[in-house]
Amino acid sequence: MHIDLLFTPVATNELFFRDKNVVVIDVLRASTSIVTALKNGAREVIPVESVENAVKVSGSLFGDVVLRCGEREGKIIPGFNLGNSPYEYTQDAVQNKSLIFTSTNGSFAMVKAKFARQIIIAAFVNIATVVDYLVDLNEDFVILCAGKEHLFCIEDAVCGGMIIQQIEKKIADIQRTDAAVAAQVLYKHFGRSIHKMLRNSEHGEYLISIGFEEDLKACATVDNVPVLPVYEKGVIKLRRAETTASN
Ligand code: MLT
Repeated sequence: MHIDLLFTPVATNELFFRDKNVVVIDVLRASTSIVTALKNGAREVIPVESVENAVKVSGSLFGDVVLRCGEREGKIIPGFNLGNSPYEYTQDAVQNKSLIFTSTNGSFAMVKAKFARQIIIAAFVNIATVVDYLVDLNEDFVILCAGKEHLFCIEDAVCGGMIIQQIEKKIADIQRTDAAVAAQVLYKHFGRSIHKMLRNSEHGEYLISIGFEEDLKACATVDNVPVLPVYEKGVIKLRRAETTASN
């Protein structure tokens, strides 16, 4: 099994992902919110790159079965139904709804990987489910960190490193790129207190400064949302539906 990792989506172009298995990580907060929304019964999440596209895609169904969701500068977009706090994606808010989702880095990374064979959405909250799936799949894959405004961010790298660390315990024969090794080293250094790592991260500090301190706790929790969101044909849905609120 060969494991690659990209610290930012701008490290390569769209065609790099063609025919690859890709795991997209945006711990703060897009991946965590999407995983939470699907666990709480959202019918699907449709990631789009721009606010304009979110408005266009939601069209006349907006507000009924279709919600516009996401953030700019961490805050809810004016006229949208939900922002990007995982706490907003409750069963009451999202059950049976289609969520048109745009965020600064997370949805950009997801859309960038659109030519992949398959795309899995990962965060700390669903990490064991992602690892189990990758171990069963037993194929090469690439971890794509959403990063922060086209640059490195620590929390996505540490989460990627944790995935690699857990896979290494289960599969003897893995080859890692230098970036994958570096992420694993970061996990070994910071993984003892994920919440502290998030609090000290650039984006974590920013979220605290705009009033989202509690979100960091939700995003730091490991394995409390055991679902596997898969992004296929423009739509993110749960691969296994057994744990959704709608069942
Ligand atoms: C993003 O996609 O950039 C984010 O998830 C930012 C955030 O809302 O914290």
